[in-house]
Amino acid sequence: MPKIFAHTKFLLYICEKFRYEKNRSMENPFKFGSIVEGNYFTDRAQEVAYIRQYIEGPNHLILISPRRFGKSSVVRKALRESGRDSITLNLQHMVSVNDLAAALLKELFKAHPLEQLRHFFTHFRVIPTISSNPLTGAIEVAFQPGMDSTVVLEDVMALLDRVGGNGERLVIVLDEFQEILDIAPHLDKQLRAIMQQQQQINYILLGSQESMMTDIFENKKSPFYHFGELMRLKKLPYDDFEQYISSRLQSCCPDCSETLAKQILDYTQCHPYYGQQLAAEIWQLAMLGIPQEELFDAALNHIVETHNLDYERLWQNFTRTSKWIFKRLALNLPLQTGEYRTSTIYSALKKLQKDGYVNYSTHYEIEDPYFQYYIRQIL
Ligand SMILES: Nc1ncnc2c1ncn2[C@@H]1O[C@H](COP(=O)(O)OP(=O)(O)OP(=O)(O)O)[C@@H](O)[C@H]1O
Ligand SMILES: [Mg+2]
Repeated sequence: MPKIFAHTKFLLYICEKFRYEKNRSMENPFKFGSIVEGNYFTDRAQEVAYIRQYIEGPNHLILISPRRFGKSSVVRKALRESGRDSITLNLQHMVSVNDLAAALLKELFKAHPLEQLRHFFTHFRVIPTISSNPLTGAIEVAFQPGMDSTVVLEDVMALLDRVGGNGERLVIVLDEFQEILDIAPHLDKQLRAIMQQQQQINYILLGSQESMMTDIFENKKSPFYHFGELMRLKKLPYDDFEQYISSRLQSCCPDCSETLAKQILDYTQCHPYYGQQLAAEIWQLAMLGIPQEELFDAALNHIVETHNLDYERLWQNFTRTSKWIFKRLALNLPLQTGEYRTSTIYSALKKLQKDGYVNYSTHYEIEDPYFQYYIRQIL
């Protein structure tokens, strides 16, 4: 081989290797699944301002949206910007009132060293066991089983109020708040009675089960009737989300980043989580060298294939009426055909909505666009 060609070939090899290593080390610019912050967070300026304004005052806020619309992320951003002291707890993980009280204390210890709080415990009627895990340094809190849970909860809540009274009001975020109805009988009544007495806490209560949350805060018979301002989080606005996605796809698909961003948003209907997931998959495949014109379908297929087994199992367990509803929704066909009674369709839809498989905004839609894709494939 002439010397000049061997040299060019070597240079090409180096360039290719460099491109591969560079791509390999580049981080996916899209994130889905957990709370997003910084560069991964887009829009929501108005919502952040609204939440901030709310917690500046003495009132409480209730934030409702279907799963994975961005509740936790928007609240985290508002809290960070406000610089306020806060603790966050997901009620889904609580199995008893004592468990809830212990978890609240544990969260408090993350922000305030035990030493600073020791004097507050003089008011406690039931003293918790507090230990430090020597491996992680994390503080563990437990109340002896059998202790009067009303007293335990009252003491912990009073302590939180006193901590809030030390300076600025403390913000307590309770996620999946509708779970209070399941943790223990009458917990809603008990908690409301305690919260009513507190002066130094702003509550932000989050929930993804629309009907249960509305019932808790809008039903006159509920102890939490009109407890705070109700705020509903919507999907991300099209233009902003499109800009966010296309600017990040520029690096891997400069010629078609806008087209791809539009395809992604049309397909996922601007759903924050599913939009980010599809964009992340497209970016990944582009980095692996999949031709640009094949990217969208390849990404969609890959995601659905990954979930195929789950979808299959899910599908098998739905009732006949639910399957019928899914098929009609997947094909954008009307539900009033006379095949099923309106009341049957309505109650099946309510159950699917409660379980998070169907969302309602201006119309009913299947929550997961990839499950919709799966259904279309099996029809
Ligand atoms: N403002 C945002 N900008 C960009 N992506 C977002 C934004 N908000 C949410 N997302 C996307 O949605 C995902 C879920 O966000 P987050 O966990 O905040 O939602 P959630 O409503 O609290 O969910 P869950 O119902 O599971 O508690 C994020 O991982 C991210 O992919
Ligand atoms: Mg959340």
